[in-house]
Amino acid sequence: MRKNTVTGPRAGILALIMLVLAACSSPEEDTQIVDANSGYNTALDMVELMTLVLEPASDILWESAGWVTTTAGTEELYPTTDDGWAFVRAQAAVVVESGNLLAMPGRAVDQDAWQIYSEGLSAAGILAMDSAATQNKEEFFQAGAQIYSVCTACHQAYNPDILNAFDVN
Ligand code: HEC
Repeated sequence: MRKNTVTGPRAGILALIMLVLAACSSPEEDTQIVDANSGYNTALDMVELMTLVLEPASDILWESAGWVTTTAGTEELYPTTDDGWAFVRAQAAVVVESGNLLAMPGRAVDQDAWQIYSEGLSAAGILAMDSAATQNKEEFFQAGAQIYSVCTACHQAYNPDILNAFDVN
């Protein structure tokens, strides 16, 4: 019986996989292999996840906290209606879940600091959700600051070049 021997095209594929495994010794490339078998759709690359999902949501949070002073006077940025608070709470939920999206197999760059920053992002997002639910301006402002510090800490650790790529204003 040849049923259990690997020959022909299958043997070729197996040899290829072995080659790929042998070539990929860095942790980053190992997570790519996990990705191929994870069943998660990671079609969005890191920059797309950042610019299309996480940044728009966090921008709304930052634009909804604090005050702006112009020559015309001081304007409060916080939501003024229940619907407005519900909307920023939903954006905070996107931030919470983005922490999970960053931590998942196929995206996680490592199992160490990367996971801590990802969890930190979710935790700060929960604070923003909670303070939006109670419409607590001071806590909402602090949550926004905490989110911002997680963004910059992770960028500093993993891609110092993009430190100033996004703006709070
Ligand atoms: C767990 C780590 C991590 C966290 C947390 C994180 N980022 Fe990023 N971010 C990255 C990495 C890594 C890149 C670079 C991706 C690349 O260039 O391949 C990036 C890239 C970006 C970019 C694209 C910059 C460019 O090249 O144009 C933006 C914008 C961005 N992040 C915004 C944010 C914001 C806003 C937050 C917080 C709300 C945040 N990021 C939190 C890791 C993180």
